[in-house]
Amino acid sequence: MDMKALILSGGRGTRLRPLTYTGAKQLVPVVNKPILWYGIEQIVAAGITDIGIIVSPETGEAIRQATGDGTQFGAQITYILQSSPDGLAHAVKVAQPFLQDSPFLMYLGDNLIRDRLTSFVDQFVKQSLDALILLKQVPNPTAFGVAVLNDQGQVTQLLEKPQNPPSNLALVGVYLFSPTIHTVIESLKPSNRGELEITDAIQALVNADKAVMAQPLQGWWLDTGKKDDLLAANQIILDETPGSEIAGHIDEATQISGRVRVGANSQVINSTIRGPVAIGQNCHIENCFVGSYSSIADGVRMVDVEMDHSVVLEGAVIEELHQRIVDSLIGRRARLVHSPKRPKASRFMIGDDCVLELT
Ligand code: TTP
Repeated sequence: MDMKALILSGGRGTRLRPLTYTGAKQLVPVVNKPILWYGIEQIVAAGITDIGIIVSPETGEAIRQATGDGTQFGAQITYILQSSPDGLAHAVKVAQPFLQDSPFLMYLGDNLIRDRLTSFVDQFVKQSLDALILLKQVPNPTAFGVAVLNDQGQVTQLLEKPQNPPSNLALVGVYLFSPTIHTVIESLKPSNRGELEITDAIQALVNADKAVMAQPLQGWWLDTGKKDDLLAANQIILDETPGSEIAGHIDEATQISGRVRVGANSQVINSTIRGPVAIGQNCHIENCFVGSYSSIADGVRMVDVEMDHSVVLEGAVIEELHQRIVDSLIGRRARLVHSPKRPKASRFMIGDDCVLELT
């Protein structure tokens, strides 16, 4: 039976507000590519091309518009609406008509992992497992689903965000399941936080003596659900993206060092760009210093700005700031400009849940 994949791209995204008021967190770019697409590419690279994507009523259409039917990834994508974010196991339940009795790989759409998925899929198939979970040691296990293993690497216990964690092995957002998972989800009850938990479903498999194994992840794993994680993801992907590519126009007064990419129809004038940096298409960058680990999306205008280790989303305008911007995430079409009328005063119109740290 051919393997399918299920990517969870619904949810509330409360930790990435305000960006998630107006858009899906899985579409927030890392090095100018939606987070979700990295997951799709990983899944296709592991040989799985029949992919279902769970979406919410709020952001489903935007995800579908951006990602399409899968042709660009060499895959076939089916969108599955989850009417409310009632938990990861609930998403599997909603997807049952798509998954039918196929084994499947489940992937959380806001996660990025370094390791290729092929060896996990191989182990799952060869050992005829009912579940294979990927684990990573973390310093703060209370924030995650946590697993306890025996000497043979079999999973004996799973706990969701435990107050007294029995291990520091967190569940990474990648799982492989046989169709047996549907049977246990059928009889699952909502947890204290009102969700159908995937950890409870896996625990039920363990309790029923099903074959549930775990594999440690070798490389990095990033859950991009928060700003600093997103900046970290941007840094790692920029570090690992080889080569420079300048499609736009760079004037003679501009100095470029390190790996820098500049998209088509972008202009960089009298600026210093110190890579690794990615600049999208149709940008105007003038009299700027753009330091390492910055990603600037399409259609951004920056004049007289110093910036380091930051991500700027589509269509933002930043002009004549007299402070360096660091460790920042600037939303789509945001305007951050100098006000000539009141030189010593700042004038703000800041959306709900924004964070500004001024010096
Ligand atoms: P989470 O990051 O755990 O939840 P969330 O997206 O609601 O975010 P926050 O905690 O900031 O409010 O979800 C992990 C992934 O799974 C994410 O891509 C959203 C997705 N998801 C669903 O598709 N359906 C669900 O019911 C839940 C809970 C999450």
